[in-house]
Parts: sequence; C-alpha cells; structure tokens
Amino acid sequence: MTAAELRLHVPEQDRYAKIMGIGSYRPRRVVDNAEICTLIDSTDEWIRTRSGIRERRWASADETVHMMSLAAARTAVERSGLHPAQVDTVIVSTVTHLWQTPSAAATIASELGATGAAAFDISAACAGFCYGVAMADSLVRTGSSTHVLVIGVERLSDLTNRGDRSTAFIFADGAGAAIVGPSPTPAIGPVVWGSDGDQAHLITQTEPWDRAMDSAGGDSPGGPQWPVLRMDGKPVFKWAAFTMAKAAAEALDRAGGAADEIEVFVPHQANMRITDAMLRALRLPESVVVARDIERQGNTSAASIPLAIDALLASGEARSGQTCLIIGFGAGLVYAGQVIVLP
Ligand code: UT7
Repeated sequence: MTAAELRLHVPEQDRYAKIMGIGSYRPRRVVDNAEICTLIDSTDEWIRTRSGIRERRWASADETVHMMSLAAARTAVERSGLHPAQVDTVIVSTVTHLWQTPSAAATIASELGATGAAAFDISAACAGFCYGVAMADSLVRTGSSTHVLVIGVERLSDLTNRGDRSTAFIFADGAGAAIVGPSPTPAIGPVVWGSDGDQAHLITQTEPWDRAMDSAGGDSPGGPQWPVLRMDGKPVFKWAAFTMAKAAAEALDRAGGAADEIEVFVPHQANMRITDAMLRALRLPESVVVARDIERQGNTSAASIPLAIDALLASGEARSGQTCLIIGFGAGLVYAGQVIVLP
C-alpha cells in the first residue's frame, strides 16, 4: 500500500484539548518548622527566609501513593463532570512509587473504575505534571485518547534523610490530578521542555537500589541502608532562577501570548526565592496571581503544580477561564512549561 492509498482514520472529536477539572490531596499531618528544628540544626527564621516554607505535610502510613492519587483523581473526575469509566488513559508522574513494576497507573486506573484504560508512569521529577499535561494534550488532539487523567503524586518523606539539613526541611508529600479532554478552542499551549543530564548529579538518589542492597553485605548491623535524596541546592537554585525564566518566557511566546496576558503564574513550588526571581525576570504584570503554596505545603515535586492550582481555585484567588503559565523543573535535570486555561 502506498502512502497515497493509506487512508488514516482519525476519530472525530473537538480539535483541541483543555484541562476539564483538577483535584488534589494533602496529607493530614502538618509538620511545622519547629518540629523540623528538632531533627536538624536549623531555625524557623533560616528556613522561612531561605525557602519560604513555614510548614509542610508528611504522609502517614495509610496515605500511600495510591490512596493520595485516588483521592485527587476522584475529585478531578467529578469536577470534570465525568464518570470514571470515561477516563481512557491514566498517566502517573512520580519518583516515589517504590515498585519497579507494575506501574502505579495501571492499578490506580482499575481502583478508580477506569477499567481497561491505557496506563503508564513517567519519571520526570518536579517537571512531571507538565510532562504529563503535554502528553495528554497530544493524545487528545490526535484522537488517540479522549479523557486523560494526569496525576502528580509524591511521598518524598520516604526518600528523605530526616537528619540531612540540606533536604529535610524542603521535601513533602501530596497528590494533584487533572483531566485533559477535548476542547473546541485551544486551551493548552505548546510545551517547552528539555533536559540537561550533565547536571544529573545535582539532585539524585544517594545510590541505586542494587548497590544499597549489596553494600549491606549481609552482615551490616542495620541491614541494607535505604537510599535517600541528595541535593546540591545552590547550583540547582541558580539554574532554576535564571534558566527557567527563559523557558517560561518561551512557553508564553510559543502560545502566542504576551506577559501582560498571563493572569496566573504557577511555577513548581521549589523555593519562594526562585518564584520571586522568575517573576522579576518575566516582568509579569503586578496584577498576576502567583502561587505561593510552598509556604504551607513544602516541595512536593510532581504534585506541587496541581496542588497549587487547586488551592488558588478553592480560595477564589484564581478563576476558571483565566490564562495560567505553569513550569516545572527538577531532577534530571529536566523542565517543562506551558500556558493553560484554568478549568
Ligand atoms: O524541586 C527540585 C528543584 N529544587 C530546587 O529548585 C531547590 C533549589 N535550591 C534551594 O532552594 C536552596 O539552595 C536551598 C533552600 C536548598 C538552600 O538555600 P541556600 O541559600 O542555597 O543555602 P546554602 O546551601 O548556600 O547554605 C547557606 C548557609 C551555609 O552556611 P555558611 O557556609 O554560609 O556559614 C549553610 O551551612 O546556610 C547554612 N545552612 C543552613 N542553616 C540552617 C544550610 N542548610 C541549613 C539549614 N539550616 N537547614
């Protein structure tokens, strides 16, 4: 068959994609800076001024990756006006699902009632939600999928050394979810994304699981040592504050917008000072609503952007239909950003 003879059939549905609904889950346990300072040599003032964090949430034993994902997903599905069975694709972005296989997405799809949905996990750390939205947007626009559930979920407290003063006060737990479905008008802009593996060592697990098991050597007194996250904060801070503003500006440009058309700005909640540096570089209007969820939630990697959007919508600071610039960045190093219309 020649290319001319091949008649590709693309299902008829609206040509564009939009975020139809968002949901989130915050663990019950609030851990304030005073508690953190019983674990590391630090002060509430240092943590607040250097990172903007006042408190974070750490998941309890029952608040698993699955439990938090399902809670966020059920809300997102309901707010989209869908039945779970209408979800035909599930993408879970996480670095803290501790099973190599099966994926978190496959079991979450069945537990949700999205029976038979295509399901897979992605590993793009703090950029994971934006990677997921980019894939969902493409899947919907090509007609491959109709309703894609994108979940960003982390239990970073499982992989944090609570005695490490460079990470213990930052990382936290939670889940956010969004349904991406068909739209008659454009509501998700082109993604601007990339990676820089030369800087992979800046945020990484202390060692791979096999080495952690081997290093125990069978007669190590404490048994195998659980690998934890290690971050060289300063260079990551510089990369994020300077390079990411450029990527965000490009996402805005590729969406055909100008800075003064953006109404809401939701960068990955990594550090309040990074958010402020990006704001200055982007020259967004004074009126722009800026996500500052890190203050109460800490850094939840793939979950931080949907958690922050949901909080802004719930408080009324942001409204459905507003244009919102999102950008995620983190371990890899990887990044992704796009303009979306809020559900
Ligand atoms: O989510 C993935 C992406 N991640 C990020 O984007 C995180 C980027 N990095 C950061 O947010 C910041 O680098 C941190 C918040 C992690 C650290 O802030 P910093 O301003 O870069 O601190 P630093 O590591 O340069 O340390 C400054 C000083 C040092 O003391 P001296 O050498 O100046 O006397 C540290 O020993 O602060 C000291 N220090 C602390 N003091 C109290 C380091 N950690 C602590 C601490 N409490 N927890």
